[in-house]
Formats: sequence, C-alpha cells, structure tokens
Amino acid sequence: MFVNSGRRIAAPTPEAIAEAAGIIREGGLVAFPTETVYGLGANGLDEGAVERIFAAKGRPQDNPLILHLARIGDAEKYAETNETADRLMQQFWPGPLTIVLYALDVVPAATRAGLDTVALRMPYNAVALDLIRECRLPLAAPSANRSGRPSPTTAEAVFEDLGKSVDMILDGGATSIGLESTVVDASEGAVSILRPGGVTREMLRQVVDLCEGDALLSLRSPGNRHRHYAPRVPLLLWNARADEADRIFQHMNGESWAYLGVSAPPASPVPPLRALRFSSPEAYAQGLFAALRELESCGCTWLLAELPEPAGIGEALRNRLQRAAEED
Ligand code: TXA
Ligand code: MG
Repeated sequence: MFVNSGRRIAAPTPEAIAEAAGIIREGGLVAFPTETVYGLGANGLDEGAVERIFAAKGRPQDNPLILHLARIGDAEKYAETNETADRLMQQFWPGPLTIVLYALDVVPAATRAGLDTVALRMPYNAVALDLIRECRLPLAAPSANRSGRPSPTTAEAVFEDLGKSVDMILDGGATSIGLESTVVDASEGAVSILRPGGVTREMLRQVVDLCEGDALLSLRSPGNRHRHYAPRVPLLLWNARADEADRIFQHMNGESWAYLGVSAPPASPVPPLRALRFSSPEAYAQGLFAALRELESCGCTWLLAELPEPAGIGEALRNRLQRAAEED
C-alpha cells in the first residue's frame, strides 16, 4: 500500500514526472493537467488504486472512469475498436474526445463501474502524455474535484478540493479548453454524444454520422445522472436575447449578486458586486469553472451567468451551466 508522504504541488520537470510515475506505479494518486481540466490519475488496471480515486473524490460507485492513453495504438489493448472509432481517433486524438467502446477483460470492473464498456481518451497535453508514457500504464482519471464541485482548471483548485487526499499535483498552469472532453458512444459503430465538450457536434458531423435528437441518450452516461459543477451559492441563468432580466431580479429579491458572461450584465436596481466578462464563448468556456470558484466566495448571495447560444462550444457551456444551476 502506498504511503502518502507527498501532498504537494510540483512544477512538471522530468524529475517530478518520473517521481509522479513512481507514485502511480505503487498505487498512489497524482493530479495532472490535461487540455480540458485537471485529472485525478491512478493506475487504471489496479482495482485498489481505482478505489482510492472514488474515495478521494467522494464519487458515486456507479460512475465509471476514463482511461487515458498516450498512443492511439493502445486503444485495442483495452477495448474492442471498430472502423468508426478508428476514424475518430485518427481525426481527434490527441484531443478532447472520449470514446466509449466494449471493454476487454483486462480493464477492472472498478474502472468501468461494472459496465461492459470502457471510456478511452488520449489527452492533448505534454505533461499528461509524458506522465502516461513514463508510467507505462493507462491512467484512470476523473476530473480532480470533489464530486459535485466545479471541475478544476488550475493546480490550486485541485489543492482546494483534494489537497489532503492526493499524493502529488503536477502544475501545468491553467488548462486551455476549460470544459471536460466530449464523450461519445461508438461501441456499436454508430456514434452518439453522451456529453458535449471540446470537440463540437459540428466537428464530429464532418467525420462520422451522428445519431441525434434522442433526449434520453445522455442517461447512458452515468455521470449525467449525478449533481455536478455546483458552486456554493445558487446560480441563475440569463439569456441575453430573451427579455427575462426583470423576472430574475425579482427572484433575487434585492439581494447581492455577481455576474459572468460574454455580454454586459443586464441593467438592474442593485448593481453586481462583481462582473467577469469574457471576450468570446471560447474564453467563457476556458474561464467558467475558475470563475464559479472565484465568485462563490466574493460575498454575493446569487450568481447570474449568461446562457450562450448552443452553437460550437456553446453547447457544452450550456450543458455545464444548466447542470450547475440545477437544484438539489
Ligand atoms: O476532459 C475530461 O474528460 C476529464 C479529463 C481529466 O480527462 N475527465 C473527466 O472525467 O471529465 P469525469 O470522470 O469527470 O467524467 C467522465 C464522464 C462521466 O460522465 C462518466 O459517466 C462518463 O464519462 N463515462 C465514463 N465511462 C463511461 C462508459 N463506459 N459509458 C458511458 N459513460 C462513461
Ligand atoms: Mg467530473
């Protein structure tokens, strides 16, 4: 059993990555950057190490983990690939696309939460890829937040949530995309989106036929059934194109609020305590989770976030905002 002695944030030097790989090979937990959000990594082939991830996050046992790979060619070691999946990998790996396929027996039940499928992804981040290569193992890694909290896009956010339970945090700076990967099911060949993300619907359509319009599809991804991304103060959503600001401010009852979005905040009787403006939907996506973490402790009673149009990264942004705004 690994003895937890590290508990620190390290710059991703070759020495630190070698040490991190040693920790993982002994069954420990290392948080590492990817292009989407930080992951909480462990040996994905070791039941005990994987169980430690669930314990550290307080993650429901029925929510499977993604196996992170450093080579496209490794996919067939862990899953039954097919022609469609190959096309997706060639086009989008390394990158923010997770592909669900039928699992091979080497993948422990704990990693896939008892399902007959496994989710695979090759991240587009040099630190992540170096770490996986150095381990010579596939890394099971969920987002490195306490279950239910906004995903971490900086090493500090990982430390805030998991500082006491992770053996080492590799600090690669703020992540570039800021929202988690797109998850698609390609186990039967036909492709359906289970979670929108960095690879957009428009990008996928150019490469494969998509099964679209099935509202129940997202239920095939266990993670979608759990509360997620929630800041500590209630979040309300505002569509700049629809005139609903009065109703929102009535609901806030004159109490203090903070704002995030691309458009200017709506005019209100009480001005916002803080307003974070982003220059584009991409910048909004990149900064969303850090903004939720920052604004929840600015002393406001309410958060108001702009709901962007559903095109491009807007679909994933809307998905995270709507889930963050759900009530318990
Ligand atoms: O960008 C990302 O995907 C980040 C970074 C660290 O790679 N990881 C991430 O992991 O977001 P996590 O565990 O927070 O979300 C994984 C999602 C969950 O919604 C889970 O239910 C779904 O993928 N998933 C994993 N395995 C699955 C499977 N076999 N079938 C369906 N959904 C699966
Ligand atoms: Mg997550």
